Amino acid sequence: MKTSELQNIKQRYNIVGNCEALNNALDVALKVAPIDLSVLIIGESGVGKDILPRLVHDNSPRRREKYFAINCGAIPEGTIDSELFGHVKGSFTGAIGDSQGYFGAANKGTLFLDEVGELPMATQARLLRVLENGEYIPVGATEVRKTDVRVVAATNVNIQKAISEGRFREDLYYRLNQVQIQMPPLRERGEDIVLLFRLFAMQMAEKYRMDKVVLSDEAKQMLMRYKWPGNIRQLKSITEQLSVLSTERLITPEILARFIPQNQETTQLATIHNEGDHTFENEREILYKILFELRSNVNDMRREMSTLKKQIEDVQGTGHQSAPLPTSQLAPIQPIQPINSTMEDAVAEEYIEPEHELENLNVSDWSRQALEKALERNAGNRKKAAQELGISDRTLYRRLKQYGLDKDK
Ligand SMILES: Nc1ncnc2c1ncn2[C@@H]1O[C@H](COP(=O)(O)OP(=O)(O)O)[C@@H](O)[C@H]1O
Ligand SMILES: [Mg+2]
Repeated sequence: MKTSELQNIKQRYNIVGNCEALNNALDVALKVAPIDLSVLIIGESGVGKDILPRLVHDNSPRRREKYFAINCGAIPEGTIDSELFGHVKGSFTGAIGDSQGYFGAANKGTLFLDEVGELPMATQARLLRVLENGEYIPVGATEVRKTDVRVVAATNVNIQKAISEGRFREDLYYRLNQVQIQMPPLRERGEDIVLLFRLFAMQMAEKYRMDKVVLSDEAKQMLMRYKWPGNIRQLKSITEQLSVLSTERLITPEILARFIPQNQETTQLATIHNEGDHTFENEREILYKILFELRSNVNDMRREMSTLKKQIEDVQGTGHQSAPLPTSQLAPIQPIQPINSTMEDAVAEEYIEPEHELENLNVSDWSRQALEKALERNAGNRKKAAQELGISDRTLYRRLKQYGLDKDK
């Protein structure tokens, strides 16, 4: 593959990085795209596997047909067969009409089976059959149906373990693995780590309307030495935290050390107890970090649920006529999904609102105390207090009102 061609693809799909293993993965994806083979993408969580199936589909003769992305790990065992292979009316409680399932709906197109290692054994048997000869039987049906679907599957590296423990069929593994693409872990990507940091720093600067953070040379080295257990997803989240919480824009190793977990064995909650110097500053930062991570988990789940919901509606609602492809299926072209709320809204609205699920964490009390203390430290200066808390004046004002702290000003 010519370098310019690869460059084009990276630009089109917002893929940042230039390490050999990444280039190789993209190269194989593009080469195999026109040939109707099953592709298995292997890589740790957060390495950026999701983009490859889309790339394969878009560069295959199936590009004008349907593409569905299904997270096999997110669908309950009781319904997965019916979602993948459809069902007939009355085949189980709640089956009020026929459904053609993803394999029916994606006829002539591509299915991305993410976390394929999570499929129950019974579903694995059905999947093997449909891959072997295009045949499947919807739940509760008696007649065999035919479909022509290309499957691209993804799994984390644990699939070998699942095979050795008898939780994943070896024959299915070989059938899915006609071509294998390995996505490298971030720690092996050298300079790419810095390039990705730069991309995310730019995105965060835009999102929060602030100057972007830049790395000192020593900080770059530190990022390249770190193990990145959560890979690119973790780098993105740490860049977001740094962008919002650091008062300095030039990031030194000392600043980085506050945001990168020092001991990967311990969770972040555990760090609170381990923290020797238990100052308010540190505690606030750690709490913010936890809130951040909770927020991004919740947002991920929400996104996944809404994609799933749309896909289910599409699959159930269409019968056998082809339906327009919901935009949610096309969306993954943009690897960076915009999160609608701003940081301040996320922290203020999603996490501190007492009626929310996180009420039990007592974040509301904590938030009130944090506000009072920040005001105290800044002699009642609201602008400075807001700055210190990393929230906007507007949010600070809203919070003061909510806690009845605005009266005496
Ligand atoms: N090369 C890349 N350039 C820019 N962003 C990337 C790249 N690879 C992954 N990302 C981002 O990293 C995050 C994790 O990627 P994802 O594909 O969901 O990982 P996986 O499916 O392997 O767990 C996503 O936010 C994605 O947009
Ligand atoms: Mg994924």
